[in-house]
Formats: sequence, structure tokens, C-alpha cells
Amino acid sequence: MKCIRTYLLAKVLLIAMPLWALAQAGSQALPAVIPLPVTMTPSTGSFIIDGTTKIVVTDSALNKMAGLLNGYVLAYGNKPLSKTTITPGNNFISLSIDSTGIPHKEGYLLHVDKKSIRCIGHDASGVLYGLQTLRQLWQAGKGSIEVPCYTINDDPRFAYRGMALDVSRHLFPVSFIKKYIDWLALYKFNTFHWHLTDDQGWRIEIKKYPRLQSVAAWRNETLIGHKKELPHRFDGKRYGGYYTQQQIKEVVQYAADRHITIIPEIEMPGHASAALAAYPTLGCTGGPYTTATFWGVFDDVYCAGNDSAFVFLQNVLDEVMTLFPSKYIHIGGDECPKTRWKVCAKCQQRKQTLHLPDEHALQSYFIQRMEQYVNSKGRQIIGWDEILEGGLAPNATVMSWRGEEGGKAAIAQHHSVIMTPETNCYFDYYQSLYAEEPLAAGGFTPLQKVYGYEPLAGNADSATTTYLAGVEGQAWSEYYTSEAQAAYMIFPRALALAELAWTPKSKRNYENFLNRLRGEASLLKHQKINYDPHFDDITYTAVPVQNNVLQINLQSAARGSDIRYTTDNTVPTIQSSLYTSAIEIKNTCTVKALLFNRQHQPTGRLFQQSFRIHKAVGATVTLLNKPIDRFNPGNTTLVNGLFGSNRYNDNQWLGFSGNDLEAVIDLGKQQTVQHLALQVLNYHWQRMWAPVTLQLLASKDGEHYTELYRQNSFPVNGINKVDVPVTPVQVQYIKVIGTNKGVIPAGEYGAGGNALLLIDEIVVE
Ligand code: ACM
Ligand code: ZN
Repeated sequence: MKCIRTYLLAKVLLIAMPLWALAQAGSQALPAVIPLPVTMTPSTGSFIIDGTTKIVVTDSALNKMAGLLNGYVLAYGNKPLSKTTITPGNNFISLSIDSTGIPHKEGYLLHVDKKSIRCIGHDASGVLYGLQTLRQLWQAGKGSIEVPCYTINDDPRFAYRGMALDVSRHLFPVSFIKKYIDWLALYKFNTFHWHLTDDQGWRIEIKKYPRLQSVAAWRNETLIGHKKELPHRFDGKRYGGYYTQQQIKEVVQYAADRHITIIPEIEMPGHASAALAAYPTLGCTGGPYTTATFWGVFDDVYCAGNDSAFVFLQNVLDEVMTLFPSKYIHIGGDECPKTRWKVCAKCQQRKQTLHLPDEHALQSYFIQRMEQYVNSKGRQIIGWDEILEGGLAPNATVMSWRGEEGGKAAIAQHHSVIMTPETNCYFDYYQSLYAEEPLAAGGFTPLQKVYGYEPLAGNADSATTTYLAGVEGQAWSEYYTSEAQAAYMIFPRALALAELAWTPKSKRNYENFLNRLRGEASLLKHQKINYDPHFDDITYTAVPVQNNVLQINLQSAARGSDIRYTTDNTVPTIQSSLYTSAIEIKNTCTVKALLFNRQHQPTGRLFQQSFRIHKAVGATVTLLNKPIDRFNPGNTTLVNGLFGSNRYNDNQWLGFSGNDLEAVIDLGKQQTVQHLALQVLNYHWQRMWAPVTLQLLASKDGEHYTELYRQNSFPVNGINKVDVPVTPVQVQYIKVIGTNKGVIPAGEYGAGGNALLLIDEIVVE
């Protein structure tokens, strides 16, 4: 009752409040429904659910929905509601299906008035989603639950709304998998992509192959720290386990009850180290192999020339397809190095017999042969976008992860596509640039970037509409070392993705989403979802406004808070400068900033960012070659006083794919130069290669250059700092030439593809 009184009081206050106050009153009063429904019409009053409320179900197909509803009510310590088939005069919640009245699949109408709640679905899924909306509308207390009166019409934008989870790198117990499925259902996802096998562990019991349980499910130890930190360090602890077939059946049923299809992924032909450790004859060399103990891409893969590898995988899939009723079976297909195949007699024999032009065609043969098998059992395959290389299997659905190109190419061939570009949909990347973030895979994908993603935005043709099935978020678990850490990385980004997947594009609005997300806090807490709460952190932009002057803008989405900042390296207090408009910086310094709430208390994390003011800040930069779109925040990036971080897509790195860096900086007039500095990134595991040669040159006239410095070796695995004092010279132009590595050599990640040359800033002093 206490809760309801507070709620009513809040409502009375709201009526008396002007609009601006309402906007700032916090989100308690806003119905925090995520994803935002198609239409929501409020009316006055509310409905009270208590022990006397009945659930009316006449359709036995909805008995499970009634059970779920009771579960949600019980979770707040309330009494279960009794079920009836006879509609009383009032005080009931009816669940029904009307496939004509609610025309869209998975759609629903949720009508709440003072006397009753009616949840009508196009199908049982629709009823389920109506109930999820109801859970987000209600204010639950012990004893009773109050639901504000609303009429909500809703249905999804995309038919495929997926979230993945990798259980190979880190294994999560069945209890967590069930919680995850509950969370996905709450946010109206309908697909759970279960990544069950990989180099670091095989996680599904296959009765025909007991060594998958005794060998492939285990690794001797696990990497400590990030995989880029060399030499690798290990914990020395045996790690592993797997889901028994009985557990899998239980999870599949649990998901089905929540209208979630589980798509299992069995990786092939790559990411196979664990399976090869158990059955070494399936590899090209015959082994011995070991289950991988660190993260990456491994050369040992299933032998494409060995029929027994196909027989093994077919037998595995037989058991998998018996356990999982899904129409789609994911067979991986990503990141399969061709190193072994190129020198394997059996693979080469196969290539010759089938007149295949290269190893890409051999991979295509592999996938197509497996597809035929899966199709013969009445199922369809999904593969990562590498399955396009060498020829797409005739009926395959493509999961486009290396950007959007794979998706576009597959749609052009009239194949169904699921978009999951790593730039926007990978939840193993950092969500913030703050130093205190827990160790993550790399890169930078903040909440707003997930929310703002629009799949294949430039392709609005009818083929795209027809073949774009939907979107999926990836949860790779290399750095998910606990359940809490997994949840922190996945949420709230999964909520942003849920809205992208469900809500009409025209209704998506980030600020509005954030308001609802704040309102969602109590439900997230009630669900024990350890989500990342830092989405209101201060962020910044910096633009050179004139030579040697930077304009810094600080932002936060937090409402009702002030930003206070310092430039003298001290932590801001309530006495520090109030941020009201852009700050102009003329000297090298660190800006520190904090949010202060209405009670003048600091909230959130301390923002700190260093800016280096030098002679080239604001200068004109001319580039000979165009940077690659993924790493092209504009030429001024090289002279904006900011260095890039190892979260490499932080918008501070300019990148050249396969071609050279040649940048000319025009200082505007001749100046004395005695010091040059820059950074290049050497992350071979991300296809990023420092230049073969770096040259720094200077000129008075922009035509005749003198070389000041040359470097041919960049030994640091990570950010290589180049810091060069030079004999003072009077010059106007500085030229930086970096020779690209070109094609990535064999044995390295991305072998045969273009190397990326990344540079962040050219400091001139
Ligand atoms: C992937 O991230 N290797 C699909
Ligand atoms: Zn082979």
C-alpha cells in the first residue's frame, strides 16, 4: 500500500507541476516501457491487482501465459491470482487471441481501465509481449500492484530480434541461461543465439562422441588480462564443463515457454581447436591439438579434404537438431584461416578433383556440403558473412558482422540477412572511454551508438525490405569473467538494441529512451540485472577553432544536474567553474569535470581528459589518400590536440586500409619547429599494422622537402609513441609519410587482406 500511496501522491504533484518541472521530475511518473510501443494512449485512473483479481483464460493455448503472469505477480511477494474461464463483471485480467482484430504477427492490444485489464494478442507471442508491457507499466508493491489506465497497440518492426551468448570462452550455468532468457523475453527479443562451440571449449553433450565431453569441454588454463598483452600470462587452473542433453532440453523448453527460439551454433570449419583436441584425425595435420587457452583465431581447422570430418559434423548436427527444434541451425563459417588447407594433401586433392580455384572455394564447398545435409533434414543454415567468400550456399541466411557489406551482398543475391555489425552490435566492446571500465575486448561502442544504428540505412529498396530479417546483439564472453560482468556488458545496450528491433524507426528518440531507461531502474534491479549505470557520464567533443585554440564541449544526458570543471588538474568541487558553454583551451592541460545534483552532491564518475596544445592545432591538413570510412573522423583529427586510446574506435584514429598515409600540415606561416610527435597503432589482432617506414619531412615552400626523421621499426604491441626532438628549423609545411604494410602476411589475423595503418595526432612544437 505504501508504494501505491507514494505513486498517487506523485501523480497529484505532477498535475500541479508546470511542464519543465515534469520533464525534470525524474522518470518515476513516465511509463518506462522499453521497447517503446507503437501507440500508447493514457486515460485517467488505475487498476489494482491484488489477491482477489482473477485471470480469465478461455483458450488453453494461453494457460502458460497465465502461469507466467502469476510468476511475475508472485515475484513481488503477492498472492497468486486464481484462474477462471468465466469473465466476471470486473477485477480481472483477460488473456486472449484475436488474429483478425490484431493483424500483425506478435502484435497485441493491452487495454487497462479501472475495472479490468485485457491483453489480446495476434498469437500467443503477442499475449506474452502484452504481459511484458504490463510488467513495465505497473507499480508493484507487496500486497497489490497498481497499473495506470492505458490503451496500447503494438507490434514489432523486425521479425528477427536476437541476442547471442558465447558460452565457450566462459561457461554460464543453466540458472544464468534461464535468467538471460527471462531478460530477453522482457525486452521482446524472440531469438537466443547460443554459441556452443569454439576453440576454448565445446559446451554441448554429444552422446556419439564422448571425448567432446572428456577432452573438448576442458582447457588446461585460461589467459589472464588482455590477449594483446604479450607475453601471455595464464591462471594455471583447469576450466570447463558442458551442458548435458537433459539440461539443453530443459533450457529449450524454458525458452519456448517464453516464445524464444534458440538457435544453436556449432562452429565450422574454423574455431575448432577444442573438437580437434578430442578427435585429432579431423584436422589436416592429425595433431596433437589442445583446447585453446587464450583468445584469437587459430590455424588448425577441420580438414576440408577428409570425409570423416563431414561425417563427424553430420553426426553432431543430428544430435543438435534433435535437441533444438529451430528452423535455423548456425554453422559458423567465420574466421577460418586457410593456412593448413594450403599445404594439406587431402585438401589440395579435393580442390583438384572439384576444380576449385582457391581455398575460399574450398570453404564454400565445406559450407555448401553441410548446408545440403542440414536442408535434407528440413532445416536451414545461418552463417557469418565469410560464407559469402567463394560462393554463397544456396539457401543460407547471412549474419553480417564485419560491417554491412556482407549483408548488402547477400541481399543482392536475395538471401535473408541478420545485421550485427561489430561497430554497433558487439557488446564485448567498451561502452565508455573512462579508464575505470573493466577489461573488455577493445573498441568502443557506447549505448548511443547501439541505439542510433539503423540497419542498411542507405538501402531502402524493396529487396532490403524483403530480405532484412532483423538484428542481433553479440555477447562474446572472453572477458565476461562472471555473471555480473556479462550482465554489465550486455545491459543496457541490449535494451537499445531491443528498441531498434521492435519500435518503428520514426518513433525512436535517444533522449526519450534514456528517460525511460532511468525509469526502468527499479525493474532492472528487481530482475537483478547488473547493468552498466554510467550512461549519464560526461562526454566531450573538441574542435580547433583557430590556430592553437581548442574549443571543448562537455555533455551529459543527466537531467537536473550541473557540470563543474577544472583545468588545473584538481578534482572539481561545488565551487569549481560551472560549465555553461564551450571552454576555450589555449594551453596544454587536463580538463576534469563532475556532475553535481540539485543537492550539490557530486554524482557519477570523474571525467578527465588531457589536451595537448601545439603549433599544428587548427592547422590545415591535406591527405594524399582517403582514409577508410571506419576510421575517418575528419582530417582535423590529426591536429585536434587529442591522442587516440587503445579503445581504437574512439574517433581519434585516422586509418588507411592497404594504402599509405601521406599527410601535409600547413602551419599558415613559417615557424620554428624543434619537436615532432605522433602515435601509430600496432594491433595485429585487429589487422592494425604500424607503418613499414615512417618519414617526417619539412618544407618552407610546400615543394622542396627535407627529411627530418625516419623510423623503420615499431616494436610495441599496441600504441607506439614517436617523439622526436629535431634541430630547430624554420618551416611552414610538415609532411608525414607512413608506408602501409600492404597485404597482411600469412599466419596473421586477416591474412591476405589489407593492413590498417592508424595514426592519431601530429604534434608540432
Ligand atoms: C565473429 O565475431 N567472429 C563472428
Ligand atoms: Zn586438410
